[in-house]
This record gives sequence, structure tokens and C-alpha cells, in this order.
Amino acid sequence: MGGAQPLAVTLNDGACLIVDVDETRLRRRESKRYLDEVETDLDAAIAKVLKAKEERRGWSVGYVGNAATVFPEILRRHKAGELTVDIVTDQTSAHDPLSYLPEGITVAEWQAEAAADPEGFTKKAQASMARHVQAMVEFQDAGAEVFDYGNSIRDEARKGGYDRAFEFPGFVPAYIRPLFCEGLGPFRWVALSGDPEDIAVTDAAIKELFPENKHLHRWIDAAGERVEFEGLPARICWLGYGERAKAGLLFNRLVAEGKVKAPIVIGRDHLDSGSVASPYRRDAATLISPGSRSTTAAGSASAGPSTPARSPSPTAPSSPRRNSSGCSPTTPAWA
Ligand SMILES: NC(=O)c1ccc[n+]([C@@H]2O[C@H](COP(=O)([O-])OP(=O)(O)OC[C@H]3O[C@@H](n4cnc5c(N)ncnc54)[C@H](O)[C@@H]3O)[C@@H](O)[C@H]2O)c1
Repeated sequence: MGGAQPLAVTLNDGACLIVDVDETRLRRRESKRYLDEVETDLDAAIAKVLKAKEERRGWSVGYVGNAATVFPEILRRHKAGELTVDIVTDQTSAHDPLSYLPEGITVAEWQAEAAADPEGFTKKAQASMARHVQAMVEFQDAGAEVFDYGNSIRDEARKGGYDRAFEFPGFVPAYIRPLFCEGLGPFRWVALSGDPEDIAVTDAAIKELFPENKHLHRWIDAAGERVEFEGLPARICWLGYGERAKAGLLFNRLVAEGKVKAPIVIGRDHLDSGSVASPYRRDAATLISPGSRSTTAAGSASAGPSTPARSPSPTAPSSPRRNSSGCSPTTPAWA
């Protein structure tokens, strides 16, 4: 698992189990406060998460194990009624099978095995990903909310021989695209002074600019408290249509009036409506613009805005559309 997920869960008062093969990675995330604690015994790890859930307390526990082994075991307990898992996702480095540790290989052997036989290692990784993704699909069958986090694990599992891999959606079509449809997107800024105090000034100014947006306030406060700066101090938040322009003008004023010590750079995030174009990852099921070459090449120029979602390949069907929160399926993603 990556580092962002436990923090994303606990910032929203959720309790989660984070599975990672590499204890040093979990310890690092614990030291940065992205993760609350590390546990090497599965029963103890699950008990801690369930206790936090019962107490409605945000808490994350990292368990050292291989997801291809641990997910099926937790699924077994879920099906047996021993516990209830509400949400399942994955953020292993599945886009590169050499960065995904197959079952049967230890962390200590990892690098040497991958270097000695990259093809054989890839096949083993894809077979493990097939088991990992099968458990995710079966969690969905058993009532959990399941989504891909943009790492291509579904396609690697398909290559590993599992043909239901695309039955759960990628998180962009499931949750992010509906926000793009409303004009909501990421807005990031960096304090060129290098002084964290400048970010504190912008945090306060952003909250004042959008007093009614409680969700934004909650995030800005939580990020200020929990998210450590790496490199120049920076902040990101999601703003709606027209709001980014307002925030830009506000920052201009803060610089002009000397309220911050140096200019602020405004940037974007990779997770933007025009960023990644990969049919197996974040942009699965991207809609085609009415006038685009792909549309006319498909011989459906006259289909206009009702052109269906693009299917990544005949063997990798586009993800089901869910949670569209009122976004018309005919609206292009970048509208
Ligand atoms: N959705 C997004 O916007 C988004 C953002 C960042 C990264 N990603 C994708 O997520 C993936 C991970 O990125 P990252 O930056 O968090 O990488 P990372 O290297 O920090 O984390 C991946 C973790 O997976 C662990 N791992 C490998 N094989 C495992 C297995 N079999 N079982 C359990 N754990 C295993 C590794 O030990 C590592 O700690 C990449 O494919 C990346 O492209 C998506």
C-alpha cells in the first residue's frame, strides 16, 4: 500500500487495515504520522481496527504481509461473518510487476529474484495479482465498496489469467469524474519563500474566502495538523468552478500587500481532468468528445454527445459507471 491511504481514511474518521509486504515501508509511514501503528500479528491487527471501528475512532493499523495472501484470508473471515469489511482498495506498485512482490518470495530475496529472471518474476507477480484482485471482486460480490486506485492492478490480474478483473471500477470514473463534471478539481500552491508560515497565512485566507465550505475547512485544518511538508512548503485542496480564479486573485493580493514573504506558485496536480490518459488506470472509461478524431474514426461523428464510453480493449471492458452523483453520462470528462 502507498502512504496516502491510511491518512485519507483516518482524516475522515475511518478505521483501516493497511497491508504491506515491507515492514520498513510501514515503519517509515508510521514515523511520518501517515500511519498510526504497525502490527505483525494478523489477529491482533484486525482486533485493533475493529475496536477503533466500534468506538468510531479514526485509526490505521499497518500489517506486514502479502496482499495476495492476506486479502483472501480476510475475505474468508468476512464471508464467515467474523467481521465486516466496508471498503476495499489497493495501492501496491502494480503498474510495474517487478515492484509487486509475488507470494513465495521474501522481501530480502525480492531484488535479486527480479534481476535474475524478470520474465519469470513478472509471471509470478501477475499470478499473485490475479489472486489479490479475485479477492477484491469477491469482496464486492459480498457487499463491500471496491475500487482500483489507479495502479493498473486490474490489467495485470487479467494478464495473470483472472477474467473478472475489470468488474470493479477505477476511482476516477467512480468518484472523481462526477466532481470534474461540476468543475471541481485540484488546486495546489507552493510558498517560494520556503517559510511554512506563508502556507499558514494562505490556509487562513482560503478559509476566509470560502467561509461556507465546511468540507474545505476540515481538510485545510487536518492537512495543517497532519501533513508534513516535503521540499518547499505547499498545500493542495479541491476548488470548484470559478473558485480557483478567486483563490489566484487572493494570492496575488497577499503577495502585493506583503502578507506573505515571497511569491506563491500555483500549480496543478497529476490528478486533473486532462492529466493521465491510460485506459487501464485512472482514465478507464473516458468519454470521447463529440468532435474528436477517435469518434469520427469510429464512424460515429453523428453520434454527438451520446457517444458511449471508450472501451480500453476487447478483453478489458470499461469499468461500470457508479456513484455518478447526477453527472450526465453524456458529459465529456473535461466539460
Ligand atoms: N491514484 C493516484 O492518483 C495515484 C497516486 C499515486 C500513486 N498511484 C499508483 O499507486 C501505486 C503505488 O504508488 P506509491 O507511490 O504509493 O508506491 P510505493 O512504492 O510508495 O508503495 C507501494 C507499496 O506496495 C508494497 N507492495 C508491493 N507488493 C506488495 C504485495 N504483494 N503485497 C502488499 N504490499 C506490496 C511495497 O512494499 C510498497 O510499500 C503505483 O502504481 C502508482 O502509479 C496512484
